[in-house]
Amino acid sequence: MDKKWWMESVGYQIYVKSFKDGNDDGIGDLLGIHDKLSYLSDLGVNLLWIGPFYDSPMDDNGYDVRDFFKVNPTYGTLDDVKRIIRDAHQLGIRVILDFVLNHTSDEHPWFVASRSSVDDPKRHYYIWQKGRMTKDGLIEPTNWASFFGGSCWTRNPGTDDYYMHIFSKKMPDLNWANPLVRKEMAKVGAWWLDLGVDGFRIDAVSHLDRAPFEDIETTSRGPVLDWHRFSNLPAVHPYLKEMNERLFKPYGCLTIGEVGGEASIEEGLKYAAFDAEELSMVFNFDHNWCNNLHESDDPDALITDVHCLRRTFMAWQKAFASDGWLPLNWLNHDQPRLLSHYGSKAYPKRSAKMLATMLHMMRGTPFIYQGEEIGMKNYPFTKADEFRDIASIQQMKTLERDMPDVNQEELVRIVAKTSRDHPRTPMQWSDEPNAGFSSQTPWINVHPDYQSVNVRLEQLDHRSILAYYKQLIDLRLSSRYQDVIKDGEIRFLDLDDPDLMTYLRIGDSITLLVINNMHDIEKPYDLSPYDTLRVVISNHDTPIIKDHVLTLKPFESMVFEVKEHL
Ligand code: NOJ
Repeated sequence: MDKKWWMESVGYQIYVKSFKDGNDDGIGDLLGIHDKLSYLSDLGVNLLWIGPFYDSPMDDNGYDVRDFFKVNPTYGTLDDVKRIIRDAHQLGIRVILDFVLNHTSDEHPWFVASRSSVDDPKRHYYIWQKGRMTKDGLIEPTNWASFFGGSCWTRNPGTDDYYMHIFSKKMPDLNWANPLVRKEMAKVGAWWLDLGVDGFRIDAVSHLDRAPFEDIETTSRGPVLDWHRFSNLPAVHPYLKEMNERLFKPYGCLTIGEVGGEASIEEGLKYAAFDAEELSMVFNFDHNWCNNLHESDDPDALITDVHCLRRTFMAWQKAFASDGWLPLNWLNHDQPRLLSHYGSKAYPKRSAKMLATMLHMMRGTPFIYQGEEIGMKNYPFTKADEFRDIASIQQMKTLERDMPDVNQEELVRIVAKTSRDHPRTPMQWSDEPNAGFSSQTPWINVHPDYQSVNVRLEQLDHRSILAYYKQLIDLRLSSRYQDVIKDGEIRFLDLDDPDLMTYLRIGDSITLLVINNMHDIEKPYDLSPYDTLRVVISNHDTPIIKDHVLTLKPFESMVFEVKEHL
């Protein structure tokens, strides 16, 4: 295996708008990020993924880029970006940016030109199709829905045809079949790499190719979401190989592709196996919904499906064991908060630490999503006007239309289940007003628990979740354990256990036994196959071991250095 710097990294994801407001306008920004570099360095992370801060009309908080080379003035200036890169590098922290390949804003000059006339030179930068004439009038080219609801086609009156957008209608999809688009996007990437960034998280990368434009068979009348029509299709791979050849490889940069649309493990390897010549790693979503969230009416009654998590992690870890490298992340800015999803209301601290242990002790590059390290939770939404996310607002509108008899409170509850606004409430820095995020009213409500859950408080408490994350990061980077944690073999144990996620990490000279109780029960664990040499890390003060049986408390997590009895 070729050693790469990112194999020794611990990453941290920043959602700019919600991280820290540096200029007192209620909106997170680059100054805020710069102010918090020492916090990040103290936490021990050495790789930042900073979300999009490019010039944008902000339909989707910046994933709708109007100008790839400009900084959104609300977030700061190019000099601020340079300062972050320079000072982060000085602290030994590398910086990767979101690179949005699939679409631009409809206000991007390419699209403005493209939609202006069928003869415009930029016409084929985007995906255009004629509508279909039916007895009911003109309809969209296909009945495909977009991820954010409604058709993925919008009519352009000027040219009398439709453009495709798998996200919002203000985010037209680029036509990757056009070599000029690929060339332009490589230029964009090179520009940022020349500025000093160390790589990219590549947004929506699995969607660059589309199936033939044919209707999805259905009995329903409206558009239907079938993401397989625009996910992980064959041409994505040659496009990425070309980008790799032209851009990623010459710069030796890190690339982590977001592969949605149920990318299989085989697909994952096509993107990111060591010999794939496409990407360095892929973020997949298979472990994101391993509980009863969709079936349950009560957000406090979620039960983690340990079998699902084990199956998923085991399969990806196994497939990439010798052929590739994985990022290790729980959730991100599009998903619920980790503690509210897989953690426990009764044991918030202990369960947050257990979840951290479970992930951070695996092979790969861990990523922490901002606020996860202090145990931030889902926001208790009760009113529709508390939502800010375009997808949540769109879902609310659709429900209001489709369920006219259901009251608002109930509709808000449905949207709040999976709203992308949960992870976007302001980072809780202190118990000061607005959680120390800003002196002004923030653009989105602060979670009401900020007086008891915040960075400042946790910095003063050596048993806090924050302190535990630091311990985990130190362990991973420590001279004694780094080899085994980073790259030791992983062997999952207790494959039928409904409560425990256990595995061994086997290095050249050190073996670690990682035991995580994911449920609210006491559980015995037989340690007799091992000599337990020492406790490496634990989220519980006094492990109870009697006659080689460890009695795990609810959500207890233990890592032992062991010798296996042969
Ligand atoms: C994935 C990003 O994570 C999400 O926030 C965004 O809305 C879509 N891609 C579109 O760019």
